[in-house]
Amino acid sequence: MAVNLGALILAGGKGTRMYSALPKVLQPILGEPMLSYVYSALAPMFGEQIFTVIGHRAELLRLAFPQFEDRFILQAEQLGTGHALQTAWPALREACLTHVLVVSGDVPLISRDTLTTFINAVERSQSPLGFISLTLRDPGAYGRVLRDNDGKVSNIIEAKDYDSAKYGPEPNEINAGVYCLEMERIEPLLPLLQNKNKSGEFYITDLIALAAQSDLDVIGVQCGGDETLLGVNNPQELIRTENIVREEVVRKHLEAGVFIHMPESVRIGPDAVIAPGARLQGPCQILGASRIAAHAEVEAFCHLNNAVLGEGAVARSFSHLENAVLEAGAIAGPYARLRPGAHLEENSRAGNFVEVKNSTLGPGAKASHLTYLGDAHVGAGANIGAGTITCNYDGHKKHRTTIGARAFIGSNTALVAPVSIGESSLVGAGSTITKDVPDNSLALTRPEQINKPRRKKPTQETK
Ligand code: UD1
Ligand code: MG
Repeated sequence: MAVNLGALILAGGKGTRMYSALPKVLQPILGEPMLSYVYSALAPMFGEQIFTVIGHRAELLRLAFPQFEDRFILQAEQLGTGHALQTAWPALREACLTHVLVVSGDVPLISRDTLTTFINAVERSQSPLGFISLTLRDPGAYGRVLRDNDGKVSNIIEAKDYDSAKYGPEPNEINAGVYCLEMERIEPLLPLLQNKNKSGEFYITDLIALAAQSDLDVIGVQCGGDETLLGVNNPQELIRTENIVREEVVRKHLEAGVFIHMPESVRIGPDAVIAPGARLQGPCQILGASRIAAHAEVEAFCHLNNAVLGEGAVARSFSHLENAVLEAGAIAGPYARLRPGAHLEENSRAGNFVEVKNSTLGPGAKASHLTYLGDAHVGAGANIGAGTITCNYDGHKKHRTTIGARAFIGSNTALVAPVSIGESSLVGAGSTITKDVPDNSLALTRPEQINKPRRKKPTQETK
């Protein structure tokens, strides 16, 4: 019979040891959910044939991975990894799989190479059940692998259930949580799983002893101390894993020709694209689908998420950019906040303490200090004085502000939207503009200044 191998990811658990409201597999590693790394490894190998057991806060997983929705299997109650497999079994059967690779959703660093080596080893052995084992100096909370005198695997005992009086001294060989099962021969064992253990859960690992007792060959494929196979169960393991990925990503960018100063303090997401010749100054983070062109610069203490920097653009220190675009030569910061939809066209500038949301600054336009631009379009070459605020929200709705090319907005101006300022117009400092200003006009709303002599000379105390 032809082999039809599919993959099953177990991702239904809560992850109690993470102390978080998020399901464990959605915990971020460099801004991307842990599970996305597992999908990245499996997708090129299995294409459509990837099934995922979801359970705890399933709606969040559906939201995060709509592309896998068709092959999500709901485990309504999370009664353990063995129960997760039992729940998924009918769907695997329906897909006519002959073999299934079972991977925990909490092994994000698993690589295609390792999986291929493992699958080949199991195939060669013809065993109906194979799993990956590791040898660790400290076996921690992982399942312990028991072998008999001939070296044959006989059982996996969870750390909390391990009783040295019964099983002998604790082995250093542990279960990595990656299995390859032959459906036909393993199926009869599934109903035999029991939950008589310290957790009161149905363990997938009990299949090993059940298989061994049924004279089925079990193969533990030893992968040394490969830390990429370690499951992530608590914040410490998450950070350790993130650091492994971080170092790898930074190393690749350095090798490709990106200047990364203080590389040990730079976090770059796996999907960020950075051109050789770009310059990053740590500490900083560049996450999501950010794209940084050659000769662009990200200075220290910047946070970029889905941000685009064109050739020569600069994010100066302490700037925060999210879903924002800086075209070639544009400058943000220091201390700029570019919120979603902020678009700085060529050579424009949003300076210190300038917040921009859903707004475009045309080529060469400048808002250099202390300004809020929301739902606005600023024409080419316009100058926005310090303290200018677009009053875009009336308590119910958002409204737009349009500022024409070469307009000059004096300091401390409130532009009450919807409103437009014509091209080459000037708004006097301290104005509150509620009506449109035509092109080439001067708009002033403040009362005229009156200077009067003081009645009394100031005393020494009141000076
Ligand atoms: C599991 C193994 C352990 C192994 C370790 C490797 C068991 C009983 N133990 O322990 O031998 O050393 O992985 O990392 O399997 N899940 C469900 N539904 C559930 C429970 C869990 O889908 O009802 C999922 C979780 O989301 C997780 C995976 O199964 O992705 C493994 O569960 P976890 O609780 O992390 O098991 P470990 O205690 O790490
Ligand atoms: Mg785990």
